Amino acid sequence: MNPNHDRNDADAAANRPMSVSEIKDSYAEYADRMRRFEWIDRIVVGRYRRDRFGDVEGRVLDVACGTGTNFRYLPDTVDLVGIDVSPEMLANAEDHLAELAIEGSLREMDAQELEFADDSFDAVISALSTCTFPDPVAALREMGRVCKPEGTIRLVEHGHSDVRPIARYQEWRADAHYAETGCRWTQEPRELVSEAGLEVRDTTTALFGTITTFELAPNRCERR
Ligand SMILES: C[S@@+](CC[C@H](N)C(=O)[O-])C[C@H]1O[C@@H](n2cnc3c(N)ncnc32)[C@H](O)[C@@H]1O
Repeated sequence: MNPNHDRNDADAAANRPMSVSEIKDSYAEYADRMRRFEWIDRIVVGRYRRDRFGDVEGRVLDVACGTGTNFRYLPDTVDLVGIDVSPEMLANAEDHLAELAIEGSLREMDAQELEFADDSFDAVISALSTCTFPDPVAALREMGRVCKPEGTIRLVEHGHSDVRPIARYQEWRADAHYAETGCRWTQEPRELVSEAGLEVRDTTTALFGTITTFELAPNRCERR
């Protein structure tokens, strides 16, 4: 976490989150563009996705899978389920599954209210997603709930830089960026994880503190 900032001061959007349906509308517009520019993601974020997701096993849930950017980094032995709130993003993810010849199923679903029983998955993964959830702590708790107690939760998140000039630019643009994209780019992923009660097994930061990755244990989550 950036020690100079209180989350709610720096994260201007935290006090007036968009609704799930507004986020859905916003990603309807972005879906094709995100798929077209995926090559940039592969260069910038690909290595962090590979490091965090490359060794998951068994039944795997990709929360807010978007266009399926994570899929290529998963072992081809996994039994994959992807969920996202946006049908347009999921249509692109479906193409991705076919191109990569991966067996998997995709469902339209709100990450904050996952329609799966407790302890359903060996691994729950999610990338660049908590920044868009109206209630990211609720979504993280849901990841903990549906993950088996001996399972693993893996995240690749982005947020507030720990390099002052970059952080200042993010703060200056935070409101406009949120209005354009529904993305809180000054969020503090470590605070969210801690608030959700998930135990950190391992974490790394990269790209001037803007990328934070996690391996989390689900066992400290509050169960309903
Ligand atoms: C920045 S994209 C990231 C997509 C993908 N995980 C990736 O790494 O490329 C954020 C995704 O979160 C999805 N999303 C936002 N709010 C959601 C919610 N409440 N439930 C499920 N998906 C949601 C959006 O539709 C979008 O696909």
